Amino acid sequence: MILSTKPWAISYRLVHASRISRRLLVTERPKTAKRATGKPGSDKSTQLTRPFTGYFDAVRDIMRMPVTTADPDIPSRRVTAEYCSMHFKQAPRNVSMLTRDFISDSLYNPEYGYFSKQALIFSPERGYDFAEFRDAADFLAAVGRQYEEMERELDDVRNIPRQLWHTPTELLKPWYGRSVARHIVKQHKADCKARKSDNALVIYEMGGGNGTLMADILDYIREQEPAIFAQMQYNLIEISSKLARKQLSRQLSNVRIFNKSVFEWNERIDQPCFFVAMEVIDNFAHDVVRYDYESGAPLQAFVRVYDDGELEELYEPATDPLICEYLAVRASLPSPAYRSPALPSATYRQLRQQLPLAPNMTKSEFIPTQAFQLCKVLRDWFPRHRLVLSDFYKLPDTVPGAVDAPVVQTRFNGSMVPCETYLVQPGWFDIFFPTNFELLKRIYDSICRSQLVSEDKAILSESRVCTQREFAEKNAELEHTRTRTGENPMTDFYENNKFLLS
Ligand SMILES: C[S@@+](CC[C@H](N)C(=O)[O-])C[C@H]1O[C@@H](n2cnc3c(N)ncnc32)[C@H](O)[C@@H]1O
Repeated sequence: MILSTKPWAISYRLVHASRISRRLLVTERPKTAKRATGKPGSDKSTQLTRPFTGYFDAVRDIMRMPVTTADPDIPSRRVTAEYCSMHFKQAPRNVSMLTRDFISDSLYNPEYGYFSKQALIFSPERGYDFAEFRDAADFLAAVGRQYEEMERELDDVRNIPRQLWHTPTELLKPWYGRSVARHIVKQHKADCKARKSDNALVIYEMGGGNGTLMADILDYIREQEPAIFAQMQYNLIEISSKLARKQLSRQLSNVRIFNKSVFEWNERIDQPCFFVAMEVIDNFAHDVVRYDYESGAPLQAFVRVYDDGELEELYEPATDPLICEYLAVRASLPSPAYRSPALPSATYRQLRQQLPLAPNMTKSEFIPTQAFQLCKVLRDWFPRHRLVLSDFYKLPDTVPGAVDAPVVQTRFNGSMVPCETYLVQPGWFDIFFPTNFELLKRIYDSICRSQLVSEDKAILSESRVCTQREFAEKNAELEHTRTRTGENPMTDFYENNKFLLS
């Protein structure tokens, strides 16, 4: 069973949403003749290109009526998400920013970001007694009723879209957290044996949500491994102040809470440790690249925000250091070489260019630049860590026509409305990505496993990817999550989740 963030939501297509509210959605703008001159203000130093990908674009442009009132001659300032969070109380106009900054700003801006409008994590008061349910559908129906109740309560309070996450940690508590604890303890014991030393167990968790995973892991270790518990230390790195306060209110011993983004981390942790990240990287911003159709050279996307709030995606040669570094690392992966599904072979491109209406660039590809940045944080600040990371590897209703595209959706009148572009009004939409785990594993190994200290070389081997089911079969106490017919949500749900373990 595949679960997206909102499994019970009714899906509407973008067309329905645009009928509901024109202001709510800012869709891809039509390409008017005026725009095609491409001189958006202070961006003039770069060579800007609008994507034209062939017959369909040509037909669409002819069919489209120009609806925008934006003035492209008003200069735009190049900004970053960090700059916006320091300077703007509402989503800015006449600016342009890289796609990852636009997405980060839309989600995380402390004033108008989607999550600052109250991110809540669905959390049943206590764990479910799975033996009470006939089967998985019966369990899901009960959860669905509670979930809808909670959503209704939110809508009653204030009529703004709110984020209501549900995660395996919460739905399957405490058994999901206990399965993670069992994995960590097994690995920790094996490491102590291999190192011939009794290191204290140290855990860093990024994005702890309500603190449920932390509480369940600590309970398991206290109960099953009191000697390890006595020495251990648990650390939480949490970007949301509201959630950090919630985690703090649990008043657990051996725990430290750091209320900051993982990207602000600046303390080197020299002892071996575990780094846990459950359901966090799906909201990590991506960049968009396309490739020049003739040369195959990468072009980076940036979003231009016009004076009337209209949004346009433009392209320039890739020069951003993080994008270039990611592409270089990816290109240097050892055999088999990674080939972007967005980039057709040189021969195909050459042939295609002989035909009329040849595209000027390939289709777009979302690249996980922030997940890449996380790998660098792990290498630089947690050099001896072992990773336990889980997230979606596939999602329904992603933005069509692009490689590794996100889901963009908002709640409207109690329903989820998925969109067909990420160029939407900042702060009103959730934007979350599936992760290509096999590629992330290779990038992670190349960044984090290439410069180990000699003592760790034999111990910290290559990382591995497994499915939620495989992880659960190895680590979970499955007898506690079995329903009466034998169906088991711990193995059957979250079929679209994978783990990266190192
Ligand atoms: C979907 S919730 C998952 C919570 C929890 N791990 C669970 O599985 O129930 C995502 C969590 O990551 C946090 N988060 C998102 N970006 C972060 C960042 N850059 N640094 C630290 N925490 C972050 C959010 O505030 C939230 O607590």
